[in-house]
Amino acid sequence: MLNGKRILLIVAGGIAAFKSLELIRRLRERGAAVRCVITDAGARFVTPLSLQALSEDRVYSDMFSLTDESEMGHIQLSRDADLLVVAPATANILARMATGMADELATTVLLATDKPVLAAPAMNVRMWTHAATVANVETLRRRGVHFIGPNDGAMACNEFGPGRMSEPEEIVAAIEAMLAPAERPPQERPLAGKRAVVTSGPTREAIDPVRYISNHSSGKQGHAIASALAALGADVTLVSGPVAIADPPGLRTVHVDSADQMLAACLAAGRIDIAVCAAAVADWKAARPAGSKIKKKAGMAPPSLELTANPDILATLSKSGPQRPALVVGFAAETENLVANAIDKRQRKGCDWIVANDVSSAAGTFGGERNTVHLISAEGVEDWPTMAKDDVALRLAGRIALQLGRPRRAAAAE
Ligand code: PMT
Repeated sequence: MLNGKRILLIVAGGIAAFKSLELIRRLRERGAAVRCVITDAGARFVTPLSLQALSEDRVYSDMFSLTDESEMGHIQLSRDADLLVVAPATANILARMATGMADELATTVLLATDKPVLAAPAMNVRMWTHAATVANVETLRRRGVHFIGPNDGAMACNEFGPGRMSEPEEIVAAIEAMLAPAERPPQERPLAGKRAVVTSGPTREAIDPVRYISNHSSGKQGHAIASALAALGADVTLVSGPVAIADPPGLRTVHVDSADQMLAACLAAGRIDIAVCAAAVADWKAARPAGSKIKKKAGMAPPSLELTANPDILATLSKSGPQRPALVVGFAAETENLVANAIDKRQRKGCDWIVANDVSSAAGTFGGERNTVHLISAEGVEDWPTMAKDDVALRLAGRIALQLGRPRRAAAAE
């Protein structure tokens, strides 16, 4: 529920603006108060009157309105909210947010706010995948803006792909994940007070400025684990390699490229209680990445690539010492002898648990929605049924909560 929460909804100019009307209705059903700011372009798609009728509040649009500025003011609008939601977040408003423009009331409020911001992108697939939008979204993510969607699907412009705004119920769920977890009763937040780091996605190791070594990890499993731990009350830092999925709401995401950067980000998180290393970290990197593009010349033999080992993040976090997290969980991605290799990996890396999964192409684990895992601990091997990655994450987070809830001596005896 969102009882007593105040949402400032910024409606920009896209065809998906009609969904914002439904969003207001659903937010109010959940107990939130909604106040709307509409851009000039937004007002071409939905009328301020509709927003006003559904929100039962004034709708703000004019930065130079003497009445608005004296009664409310653009700073006050953001001060009075618990969360700013930009829906639809068009390519245009994302670009203006990324460059810090304050050219109308909506962008001025977004620039002036110190409140969390959730953006629900909606645009044509080519606009979403354009390098400019990709860079703007990356910039905004780095600055802490949360994103929900966009979804894949058919669009009003007769194209298909990512760009559809998330459905109102998905946006409401993201808002609840951002605003409501702190209000869940303590028995539903067994990890409250615990700090966790989760690594997710692939790493990218540069060969030269245009080529890199990487793998097929999508980040779906690692991101789901980060969300599941946050839902149980943990304070989570997600360290993500380059992925195409959105940052989960309700936690901190740090974006990195290489294994070196991933390790540095994990260590920068400071003292933690839980580490879950679900990232598919490249074992090797180019020994000497070229500073400029390696040119192909006629008659030239292919260049040889000298590799050197990357730091092992899981082994580093597992090292004993006062800073060691109480529980370190690694993953094992294997294509053969899954369980035997994973048991061996648990010992070599010094972690407490290993979640073993088959990454042969037949299993479809990389990038897929489901996973079949085996949980390996000092107590033995548990075979879990095939589940959605979200469910694997929830079950793993539940096990982590159980483990950390145990009296220290029982846990140490294992
Ligand atoms: O991202 P998805 O598409 O959802 O796919 C999920 C997944 C298959 C990537 C995930 O479930 C998974 O198995 N992640 C670990 C992949 C991996 O790198 O496994 P590994 O067996 O090579 O490494 C073992 C462990 O050591 C892992 O916890 C890994 O994060 C860690 N490692 C590996 C190398 C290295 N240099 N540093 C590490 O920390």
